[in-house]
Amino acid sequence: MPAPEKACIIGAGSSGIAAAQVFAARGIAYDQFEKGSQIGGNWRYENDNGMSSAYRSLHINTSRRVMAFRTLPMPDHYPDYPDHFQMAAYFDEFADHFGLREKIRFQTEVVRAEPIVGGGWDVTVAGPGGEETNRYRALIVANGHHWDPRWPEPAFPGADGFEGEQIHVHNYREADILRGKRVLVLGLGNSATDVAVESSRIADATFISTRRGAWVLPKYLNGKPIDEVLNPITGLAPIPLQRFFTMRALGVAVGQPETYGLPKPDHKLFEAHPTVSSELLPRLGHGDISAKPNIERYEGGRSVRFVDGSREEIDLVVYCTGYKITFPFFDPAVFSAPDNRMPLYRRVASVERPGLYFVGFIQPLGPIMPLAEAQSEWIADLLADRASLPAKARMLEEIEAEEGRQRKRFVASKRHTVEVDFYPYLREIRRERKRAAVPA
Ligand SMILES: Cc1cc2nc3c(=O)[nH]c(=O)nc-3n(C[C@H](O)[C@H](O)[C@H](O)COP(=O)(O)OP(=O)(O)OC[C@H]3O[C@@H](n4cnc5c(N)ncnc54)[C@H](O)[C@@H]3O)c2cc1C
Ligand SMILES: NC(=O)c1ccc[n+]([C@@H]2O[C@H](COP(=O)([O-])OP(=O)(O)OC[C@H]3O[C@@H](n4cnc5c(N)ncnc54)[C@H](OP(=O)(O)O)[C@@H]3O)[C@@H](O)[C@H]2O)c1
Repeated sequence: MPAPEKACIIGAGSSGIAAAQVFAARGIAYDQFEKGSQIGGNWRYENDNGMSSAYRSLHINTSRRVMAFRTLPMPDHYPDYPDHFQMAAYFDEFADHFGLREKIRFQTEVVRAEPIVGGGWDVTVAGPGGEETNRYRALIVANGHHWDPRWPEPAFPGADGFEGEQIHVHNYREADILRGKRVLVLGLGNSATDVAVESSRIADATFISTRRGAWVLPKYLNGKPIDEVLNPITGLAPIPLQRFFTMRALGVAVGQPETYGLPKPDHKLFEAHPTVSSELLPRLGHGDISAKPNIERYEGGRSVRFVDGSREEIDLVVYCTGYKITFPFFDPAVFSAPDNRMPLYRRVASVERPGLYFVGFIQPLGPIMPLAEAQSEWIADLLADRASLPAKARMLEEIEAEEGRQRKRFVASKRHTVEVDFYPYLREIRRERKRAAVPA
């Protein structure tokens, strides 16, 4: 059988279309499959793929100038922090601007992807015409990592007998379900802060329960979106220096989290994924949200006991406890990410499975999109034989070293296994492209 010529891209969210744009520009043949009937993945509210975690009030928390694809700015009339409708429209515009839409097979789910002995991948898709299997030289996985809800593991004692309602934020859409209730929000990431703030306006009582503190960053510092304070120049500064200056500015702008009743963070600023909210701290200050430590157990009826011994009667618990990274189309023996660990070379290339690449499987202190573009450029180099991967032993060494750096750099938590610093990671990919460049 002749060697397959095309690459296969799984997904047409922002990462999948980033890869498609680069491949189209570089003349790399590909097919692209999208489970839903539209572009935009997570940013398509009520996406018919059933996977979007967007809620009605969602806005981006990385500002538009930093988040935009480098190949197409967001429209000038957009605000600093557009909502999900505007983001979906921007991704539509991106796909149409580069003529990517015609090549996407919508409502077509990749249900199986199997490596072929000797190289290449057999990819089985299920779509309107039934199932079919095609052979590809490379597999580009861009199925997203914020759609498979992670519930507390193990569940809190007594959770089964709790007589109130328990939902994961993945299924939260409209604030109306909070109205008139006593709401407990678990977690202190960006989902938890958004839901707690919404709840504080219409619920009877709102509690935010957290097992560790967080540095809550405002959306603006000095009248500028906070992520514009760091730029390619200031982003070159060592993290301790960036931390020093940001802490000084934060001290003036908001002070310490403990002042608002939150626990003192057990880590330094930038050692955890940033929680960005200009509203949480004032809502705590107004008494419309009460801070609680972690849940200890459900005590029967609607009573919840916290680890400090306090109790509250609760009608609705919203678990904002993050997401699992999963790949339903792979046999776990082919690839999986237990506890969200993704041991990939430069967070893109599988060492054990030649021709397997991942786009967007990073959680930056900043936006994903420009990094997904950079990853795609590097993959295109590899597919066009303009670059090559190092030897397997070298890649494994680098992955181990990176995991070591990661353990020192970020709080140990399943939410930080793919955490990266935005500008350093961008530089890392650029360096890798230079290192690996094959002379023409
Ligand atoms: C509430 C929320 C807010 C966020 N806010 C920000 C933010 O402000 N800034 C930021 O940078 N990031 C943010 N993120 C992170 C988010 O992951 C990225 O913004 C972005 O959605 C990543 O795009 P993606 O294409 O990798 O994944 P997704 O957007 O999840 O898209 C994946 C696509 O793959 C498709 N797909 C999945 N499986 C298959 C299959 N088997 N076959 C075919 N198609 C498949 C899906 O249908 C989907 O269209 C947020 C995440 C959440 C949950
Ligand atoms: N644009 C926006 O405004 C916006 C809004 C929502 C989400 N997002 C993005 O979406 C992604 C997911 O965010 P997220 O907030 O849903 O999840 P997340 O960042 O993974 O945060 C999960 C939170 O739940 C806590 N947690 C997890 N398991 C727990 C347990 N068993 N018991 C107690 N606490 C537990 C975590 O604490 P530990 O830190 O201790 O693990 C953390 O506070 C992030 O990239 C985020 O930036 C963006």
